[in-house]
Amino acid sequence: MAQSRLKSNTDLGSAVADAEARFIASNPKSRARAEVAKASMPGGNTRTVLHYAPFPVAFTGGEGCRVTDIDGHTYTDFLGEYTAGLYGHSNPRIMATLRTVIDGGVTLGGPNVYEAELAHLLCERFASIELVRFCNSGTEANLFAMVTARMVTKRSHIMVMNGGYHGGVFYFGQHKPPINAPFPWVIARYNDIERTLSQIEAHAHELAAVVVEPMMGGGGAIAADAAFLQALREACTRHGIVLIFDEVMSSRLSSGGLQKKHGITPDMTTLGKYLGGGMSFGAFGGRHDIMQHYDPYRTGSAPHAGTFNNNVLSMAAGIVGLRDIYTAEVADTFNAAADAFRDRLNAIVTRHGVTMQVMGVGSILALHFVAGEIKRPEDTWAMDATAERRKADLHKLLHLDMMEMGQYFARRGMLSLSLPMGPAEFAAFESALDEFLTVRGPVLRAAVQ
Ligand SMILES: Cc1ncc(COP(=O)(O)O)c(C=O)c1O
Repeated sequence: MAQSRLKSNTDLGSAVADAEARFIASNPKSRARAEVAKASMPGGNTRTVLHYAPFPVAFTGGEGCRVTDIDGHTYTDFLGEYTAGLYGHSNPRIMATLRTVIDGGVTLGGPNVYEAELAHLLCERFASIELVRFCNSGTEANLFAMVTARMVTKRSHIMVMNGGYHGGVFYFGQHKPPINAPFPWVIARYNDIERTLSQIEAHAHELAAVVVEPMMGGGGAIAADAAFLQALREACTRHGIVLIFDEVMSSRLSSGGLQKKHGITPDMTTLGKYLGGGMSFGAFGGRHDIMQHYDPYRTGSAPHAGTFNNNVLSMAAGIVGLRDIYTAEVADTFNAAADAFRDRLNAIVTRHGVTMQVMGVGSILALHFVAGEIKRPEDTWAMDATAERRKADLHKLLHLDMMEMGQYFARRGMLSLSLPMGPAEFAAFESALDEFLTVRGPVLRAAVQ
């Protein structure tokens, strides 16, 4: 390897300090912007996951799979807008559609010519969805799915998985946030069939829904075992509980979501992210007998409001994305290439003998500084304050070093790939990770056993 841009250090603390000093020096405009933003937004931030220390870089634009920041750096975008950026930043078909739609006028305040086609495409693609309704985000989709389950079962409680994420007010990570929606939760352990089934038996009389991500996204790209999902399916059927698959992230992982890959059909599915073609999007759907409660022709139907539910931009871009770009064949080829990329990353890590592993399915990946098998988010959680600080430092070092090498992804180590990426982008990322592990190997090996 040629002389590395990264500076080698003997301990984690000084390595992080060096990386941070270089980051600050090379991002003066982003730093100034972050300061100005603090005057009108708490901490200068309006979306928690976009914050990282010492300050996030701010972007001026994006093209293909690249983003450019206000200090003039261009990054390959492995964040992929936390999976919403599947099509990249400037897909010509999506851009042309958006321009046409804008020229036709926005905020129409009535049904439009797009929504039924997008609904039809979603029903065709996701086996569990016989009828669907749109909303504005994955959070909203889950909120509506949960209250729908409570309405149809006339029960109160919702089972979720420890470490799961279903939106801004549905986060069940290590530190449960005080702003979670006040539903009566039953918190189960992901991939633990025995324990989860006994919780379902104990709460069956009051459980309206079991909500599960077939692959935990925010929890660390950790896939559910098919046997676990199948056990949930059977228990929910037995007790009349609504099984909800949150496929807001995982729906892109095959031509019909992970439900297709496993051949397991939930009662309801929630969707979001890329399915609006890069515009804001959410949807919840499921069995006809459940969803028909929202049929306004029925007496006593339930209301489901939302000013922008069928906004023309999301509907039209969503159609083009699903119908013309992310076809079933493309979904399968793309995820197979992504699986091979993840295998290569793990091979690089193994070659360096550092404690790190790359988890995920297809085009969603997460890098963890964890030694043992990861079956659930708890396996990645730090046990005490010292371990938590070390974990934060490791992720900060990885993140800042990789950004210096032009690779942008989430501070917590999450990557989601986009369609404009090809062998050149994958190879550049692999070689950047190789360089990081070469230069930082001694520090990493000393910090994590
Ligand atoms: C599995 C899952 N569900 C729901 C959401 C919430 O989606 P949104 O950010 O659109 O509200 C997310 C977002 O990351 C998610 O990963």
